Amino acid sequence: MSIQAAQRMGLRCLALDPTEDCPASQISPALVGSLSDVEAVSGIFSQCAKVTLENEFIPASVIQSALRAVGREESCLVPSLASLAIIQDKYLQRQALVAAGVPGPTSAEVAGDGELAIAKIGFPMVLKARFGGYDGKGTRYANSPDEFENLRNLWGDGGWIAESFVKFKREIAVMVFITEQGAGTFPTMETFQTDHVCDTVQPCDADGSKIALDAVRAVGGNGLYGVELFELETGELLVNEIAPRPHNTGHYTLDWGGPSQFEHHIRLVTNLTPAPIDGLPTCMVNLLGQAGAKDWQDGLAAAINPDPAVRVHWYGKSESKPGRKMGHINVCGSDCVERAKAARTRFYAAWVGNTTVPEEVG
Ligand SMILES: Nc1ncnc2c1ncn2[C@@H]1O[C@H](COP(=O)(O)OP(=O)(O)OP(=O)(O)O)[C@@H](O)[C@H]1O
Ligand SMILES: [Mg+2]
Repeated sequence: MSIQAAQRMGLRCLALDPTEDCPASQISPALVGSLSDVEAVSGIFSQCAKVTLENEFIPASVIQSALRAVGREESCLVPSLASLAIIQDKYLQRQALVAAGVPGPTSAEVAGDGELAIAKIGFPMVLKARFGGYDGKGTRYANSPDEFENLRNLWGDGGWIAESFVKFKREIAVMVFITEQGAGTFPTMETFQTDHVCDTVQPCDADGSKIALDAVRAVGGNGLYGVELFELETGELLVNEIAPRPHNTGHYTLDWGGPSQFEHHIRLVTNLTPAPIDGLPTCMVNLLGQAGAKDWQDGLAAAINPDPAVRVHWYGKSESKPGRKMGHINVCGSDCVERAKAARTRFYAAWVGNTTVPEEVG
């Protein structure tokens, strides 16, 4: 979607994809190679004036080696390499936030026999993989020493952190941008996660802009970042995590009438002035892969035909696995939440052939 935004502005793009049938390569020339292979990453840095990321899993050390291999400066990469190195290690990320005085759950490295982590965090405890987690795939809960011990095969390698379990009132998220041309935020949105996966993003009355900007500054951010926050009953806000890229909680901006996060991102990457941030209240619901799903175009028609204001985005991923983010729906206006959820119900019902309509969530 960043490529689509760049192309609209006349920019030519080159993607690096791990396989030939990735969504980016359907709309742009692409190199095929491993995202952790210095040679493959060097191919992008040798051919592109500016380079950006759509996930945080390319190791910062690989990028550094690739830059060196082709004699390029770090400044051709947005987000900043320093912020990527911190963010992609959840432990370094927490340390940077603590050092800057940005509130978050108490956290500890899980090392050795885990006793120090237990002493600092106690139970209930949230365990998170330091590297590579997404959609909750690196997140586990332990409510007792026994449960903690049962997860030893995960944390035993020292690659996990422990966090205090936050009894939040709600989860919110803010898209933040920081460049030399200016800094700012998109509106604060409420987010709903089911089984750790975001399913609904909707307008809300909270304002997380200050803490979100503080968080991105704490990791040396330059570019566009998504900041996930917990709001407590008291109204206090805690940072859950930062993503150094356009974020699922900013997908609503594709249809809100103002600049999309992707256009904004491309402006930041190419040193153009950020756009004024303004748009209509919009709700986004994710379309997740369903067991037994058939033709997605039946879902598309069922979502749109009864409510033509529904906007469907489908990513063109080659494989639909249960729970995988395959697309999303946006609806603008005062009744956007109900209409977006109703459109998703229709989509799923038609897609899986009316057999197992998932419960509405969020
Ligand atoms: N300390 C915590 N206390 C309570 N709930 C938590 C805590 N940390 C995470 N969660 C819950 O788990 C969800 C996923 O956690 P987190 O965002 O850290 O994982 P992730 O795998 O990086 O997810 P994603 O990349 O999809 O955002 C959060 O949105 C929240 O609902
Ligand atoms: Mg998250």
